[in-house]
Amino acid sequence: MYERLYNTPQRHGFHWPGRIVAGEGVLAGWLNGERPRGLAIIADAAFADHPLVLAADAPLALVCREPRAEDAEAILRRIAPSNPETVLALGGGATLDIAKAVTAHLRHGSFAVRDVPRDGGAPALIAAPTTAGSGSETSRFFILADPASRAKIATRAWSLVPDLTLLDPGLLAAAPPRLLLLGAFDAAIHLWESFIARGEKSSFTAALTLTHLPRILAVLPELAADRPLSPAQRLALMEASAMAGVAISNVRTGLMHTLGEALSAQVNLPHPATLRVFLAPVMALYEHAVADDAAPLWRMADAVAPAGAPWSSDAFVAAWREAFGALKVDDAIAAAFEATPPSLDALMAAVARDTTIAKENPTPLDPGLLRLVAAAGLAVFQHPQAAHPAAVNAR
Ligand SMILES: [Fe+2]
Repeated sequence: MYERLYNTPQRHGFHWPGRIVAGEGVLAGWLNGERPRGLAIIADAAFADHPLVLAADAPLALVCREPRAEDAEAILRRIAPSNPETVLALGGGATLDIAKAVTAHLRHGSFAVRDVPRDGGAPALIAAPTTAGSGSETSRFFILADPASRAKIATRAWSLVPDLTLLDPGLLAAAPPRLLLLGAFDAAIHLWESFIARGEKSSFTAALTLTHLPRILAVLPELAADRPLSPAQRLALMEASAMAGVAISNVRTGLMHTLGEALSAQVNLPHPATLRVFLAPVMALYEHAVADDAAPLWRMADAVAPAGAPWSSDAFVAAWREAFGALKVDDAIAAAFEATPPSLDALMAAVARDTTIAKENPTPLDPGLLRLVAAAGLAVFQHPQAAHPAAVNAR
């Protein structure tokens, strides 16, 4: 029964049922060494004629867009007749999410599984991510979109954590710089929000944040300058993303995700860009409340990412702001807002349905304060010339 629960100050645990193998060439090593029988591959379209995929000679389904329920159904129809013993998910977060959904259906006869136990039945799920950020490669979640309602259907089950996650930095080599930056930011915020959750945080997930968030910050200058990453830097991002996926499976995400997910229902932006909108006002909101907890994190960052030292809440915000500015992510957000101006009222209505955030935010949240924070985030991109709102912190 405890597997279903999130932590409380009185009862905290750590659950993760998967395995990880990381290193250059681990995907080829697994395919050639294991020679998995009954293999089916669900992959990004870019892998249609990849030598490893061709050599595997397995049923192949390609993913071309953000996951929708209808895509999962189409891929299920393609994959199911071969009755696979192993599903290899090879691609970004969208592909991994679809592979989880299809695997859920193959095992349980439905996409709508929730907290179902792993019964040991086929197929096994192997994840080889080609991006670093969403954490889908290790998390217990998958998300399918319903375009009709613009809603996202999130599903949760420990049994759908991939049985094996292969982190091969060679698979990240082709990722464009902006995608790397957005992914790194998503993973960083997963690690940060699980670190400062009021009741659910634990020493177990804090250890993941203390190790992996500074490693992301160490790579951030390379990302911001659009310099090519070394294999070690790519591996650092992949490992951080994977551990962030573990962290958010044990401790829920926080206010940036609550606001970002509400915004994504209105505006066509990648998930990490919606988080970026609220970075500064949310960090300012609870800066003093989390200062003691955050101090060892920033000192660790000083040691691991000395180029940005001394790290602090303000330095963290500034470093990401500089990187998003350099790679023109902020311009893209402002353009998206101009095309579809977000509604603050609709945003607040969506946020009001999230009962967790009221419990887990490091500071008490009343609707008026929450509205101020949300408005401050939106205002930066609706009126790019506006000074950054410091008023939130003054309340
Ligand atoms: Fe996220």
